[in-house]
Formats: sequence, C-alpha cells, structure tokens
Amino acid sequence: MTIMSCSHSGKDKTQLQVSAIREGTVIDHIPPQNLFKVINILNLQKIATQITFGTNFESKRMGKKALIKIEGVFFQQEEINKIALVAPSAKLNIIKNYEVIQKLPVSLPDKVSGIIKCYNPNCITNHEKVTTQFDVVGSQPVMLKCHYCEKLMTEEHFVFV
Ligand code: CTP
Ligand code: ZN
Repeated sequence: MTIMSCSHSGKDKTQLQVSAIREGTVIDHIPPQNLFKVINILNLQKIATQITFGTNFESKRMGKKALIKIEGVFFQQEEINKIALVAPSAKLNIIKNYEVIQKLPVSLPDKVSGIIKCYNPNCITNHEKVTTQFDVVGSQPVMLKCHYCEKLMTEEHFVFV
C-alpha cells in the first residue's frame, strides 16, 4: 500500500498551508487584524475565480501575517493602492506560470473617493447622497482629511461604506 502525501512540494503534509497558484495575485504581509477590511476594499465577493486566504501565519518581519491568493486576476495598481489605507506593509506578488514575476509594495493614494465614511456626524456626506472624498494628509499613522467638512481621521475611525 502507498501512503499519499497531501503536499506536492515533497514537504511533510503537516507543513502544507496555502497552495501555490498558477496565475494571478498574491497579497502577502497583511496585518491579521485587517484581513477582512482588505477583502472588503478589494470587493472580493464579486470575483468568480478561486480565492484562498489565511491568517495568523508566522512571519519573521511582522510576528503574524495574513495573505490572500486570487487566481486569474491582475488588479490595477490604483485598485491595490487602496489597501494601503489599512495594510501599508502589504506586498503585491504577480504570479505567472507559478513564478513570482513581480513583487511590489503598496503605496498610499493621494485621494480616497468612497470606501470610507466621514467620522463627523454633521458632515454633508452623512445626510445627503454625496460620495465621500478625502485627501490623504499623513502616512504614519495614515490620516485622511474630509474634502467637505475638513475633519481629520485616523485608522481607528475608519468605517467602510
Ligand atoms: N506564491 C503563490 N503561488 C506561486 C508563487 C508564490 O501563492 N506560484 C506566494 C507565496 O506563497 C508567497 C508569495 O506568493 O506567499 C510570495 O512568494 P515568494 O516571493 O516566493 O515568497 P517569499 O520569498 O517568502 O516572499 P517575501 O519575501 O515577500 O516574504
Ligand atoms: Zn466630512
């Protein structure tokens, strides 16, 4: 009788975490507490191809990290940059034919439209059908300034639209 291993890399099956993908995007080094925010920002519920994600993996740099693997999808850089709001440490890996062909950091956009609500209850965006708009005015910590009421917000106040 042959005992089959689950791992295709020849490692012990207890080491298999998340399988490699053939072609697509891997977003790695996401802070675990913000994994679901990243999923939300990228609208992954609308994607029909295979998506795997995992969290609380060991990372030498971060202690613990989360990652997302999206088969067959290559995002616009602009789309990916939105995740820098909640995951500035994330790395974008472009995979083709099982190889990492490009590895990019994410960088904060200058402006954010939609995605986040204004924290000021009196802001017009909380009373009328107006899309929120913010200028990114700080990076450590990430700070947004509302285009309408000029309220400043940091990450602990981000509520997603
Ligand atoms: N990956 C994948 N499918 C592939 C190739 C890579 O899912 N065909 C994933 C790896 O599992 C890893 C990420 O893409 O999560 C980056 O791969 P690689 O650069 O090989 O890994 P590391 O050197 O560990 O990356 P880093 O230096 O960013 O930690
Ligand atoms: Zn406002």
